[in-house]
Amino acid sequence: MKRKKVLVTGAAGFIGAHTAVELIKAGHDAVLIDNFSKSDRTLLSGMEKILKFKPDFHEGDCADRKFVDHIFKTYGPFDAVLHFAAYKSVGESVSHPLMYYRNNIDSLLTLLDVMKEHDVRDIIFSSSCTVYGQPDRIPVDETAPFKRAESPYGATKQMCERILEDAHQTGFRIVSLRYFNPIGAHPSAEIGELPVGVPNNLVPYITQTAAGVRKKLIIFGNDYNTPDGTCIRDFIHVVDVAVAHVRAMEYLENLSGSNLFEAFNLGTGVGVSVLQLVEQFKIVTGVDLPYEIGPRRPGDVEKVFADPSKLNKAFGWKTNYTFSDGLLHAWQWEKKIRSV
Ligand code: WQD
Repeated sequence: MKRKKVLVTGAAGFIGAHTAVELIKAGHDAVLIDNFSKSDRTLLSGMEKILKFKPDFHEGDCADRKFVDHIFKTYGPFDAVLHFAAYKSVGESVSHPLMYYRNNIDSLLTLLDVMKEHDVRDIIFSSSCTVYGQPDRIPVDETAPFKRAESPYGATKQMCERILEDAHQTGFRIVSLRYFNPIGAHPSAEIGELPVGVPNNLVPYITQTAAGVRKKLIIFGNDYNTPDGTCIRDFIHVVDVAVAHVRAMEYLENLSGSNLFEAFNLGTGVGVSVLQLVEQFKIVTGVDLPYEIGPRRPGDVEKVFADPSKLNKAFGWKTNYTFSDGLLHAWQWEKKIRSV
């Protein structure tokens, strides 16, 4: 694949930082932007340690048209845009819906406008399995209908996909990657997940409990209709998520034609319960994990994991890491940042 120049938004965040590393390792040039609303410079310095040079980073907001236009004018032309910048906490979106609609939708619309002005057609969008709600069929494939989203966060992803689907007719080539549950950290432990405040997500809550930062894990419900009563998810390693974005760029490069909208499930295809993951964490790390069963969390779907075959076939690639690798790398990262 020829060397490309790519704009990465949300590049100081969990998925954005890991993807920027894989992009640059694959020989591409990346211009990185982030407004630090949900991140800080920690992962940028971690990236520098992995890459052995300072990535080309600019602080600013994707919804700020003047800033985005300046980036395209000054650092372009870009072959593609990888768009990660968005708020992504299910729980926070319930308590702050307008903030989520404003941020997640404005940033995409601004980006598409500026891309159009600068004749940049290719975009890889960070979507989510939350667009499906609770699917009728598991594993879920891309033909599954969008049920009513369980949260404003999920609704913003559904709306953004609809915007992209309608926009593609006007000359965009769009790949929408529907992430399942990204977990883990870079094997070097130089970059990883850095939740702001109390983690909403399961794995960072587990690693902070194991590091003594949290007293104990509460498992939200064990009365679901699953083998051990706890919810089932598809936990995919963040480096696999990152590499899939490079493969998505290759997929677009090999396509002729002026416009496209294609969505792919980005998961392992393996369903793992919350309890299975907790027990596996103890096995792979040798660390005990205090937990107790609490009430269900509103908005949780009972069971969701991917049928990833459409992506595997189109990209000629499948995930390499297991969820156990993700747990081990997440723990190594936690120990690094807590220097435990
Ligand atoms: C997983 C399971 C909880 C915390 C995430 C992202 C979302 C999207 C999909 C990318 C659930 C349980 C959690 C805790 C628990 N990804 N849990 N105790 O809700 O599947 O959504 O993946 O776009 O953005 O948020 O992930 O990690 O919050 O929860 O029991 O302290 O773990 O009930 O069953 P979720 P999660």
